[in-house]
Amino acid sequence: MIGVFDSGIGGLTVVKEITKQLPGMPVLYLGDTARTPYGNKSPETIGQYALQDARFLIDHGATVIVVACNSASSVASKILNSEFDNPVFEVITPAARRAATLTKKKRVGVIGTRATIGSRAYEQAIHAVDDRVSVMGQACPLFVPLIEEGWAKKGETTRIVKLSLQGLKTKNIDTLILGCTHYPIIRDLIHAKIGKRVTLVDPAEEVVKDLRQYLDAHQAVAQSLRSAADHRFMVTDVTEHFQSIAQSWLKRSVRLEKVTFGEGPGV
Ligand code: DGL
Repeated sequence: MIGVFDSGIGGLTVVKEITKQLPGMPVLYLGDTARTPYGNKSPETIGQYALQDARFLIDHGATVIVVACNSASSVASKILNSEFDNPVFEVITPAARRAATLTKKKRVGVIGTRATIGSRAYEQAIHAVDDRVSVMGQACPLFVPLIEEGWAKKGETTRIVKLSLQGLKTKNIDTLILGCTHYPIIRDLIHAKIGKRVTLVDPAEEVVKDLRQYLDAHQAVAQSLRSAADHRFMVTDVTEHFQSIAQSWLKRSVRLEKVTFGEGPGV
């Protein structure tokens, strides 16, 4: 199966994209809801959690890993790639590549958690493609809790989004990376506040495009990944709130299974 992990339920936006671009492909999802959020933790802690998450998925039958979490992708990609032989897809490289290709003014904005922005991972990945691009980062730590509270449509959220993007708005960017799993949920609001002339890049879309290309080129792997009948959603803590967000984001019935690290395969 394709193993997808995130700090919590935000990575379901990546699962949704897999459902869209790779219909019928089963996903083994791990949301580390007991330790969420990752975005305001140190790189060392996030790195350690990411290794545990990937290990858990591999122990439970995942052969290809997708790091849905931007915070984990931005600080742990190298270590995940060196630790495991399995193909690991992270969100930073494909979204950076897309932004570097799209920007005409060579001015790209990135929004994300403090960990993602502080790591400068998007900046480095964009410069690996084109070092003439100026990259402006802005941490937006208030967006995740507002979205998880279901406040996406409230006036307070509109004001906070406007205020958070004010600095970037003066930077003359023409491309903006939505560098956090949750931001596609308020994509229209972000677009309205940053300006309709700015092109948005959704890392979930880009990482799944990369995954799809890989599977097209590796048909035997693609075949082997289709072994399960349906998705499986595992989380390290279950609450009614997580359960209801999961269902409303995926627009399907979802049963969250509580798991504990250290359990053996098949749990
Ligand atoms: N999933 C995280 C990310 O994409 C956002 C939530 C968190 O901070 O854990 O960065």
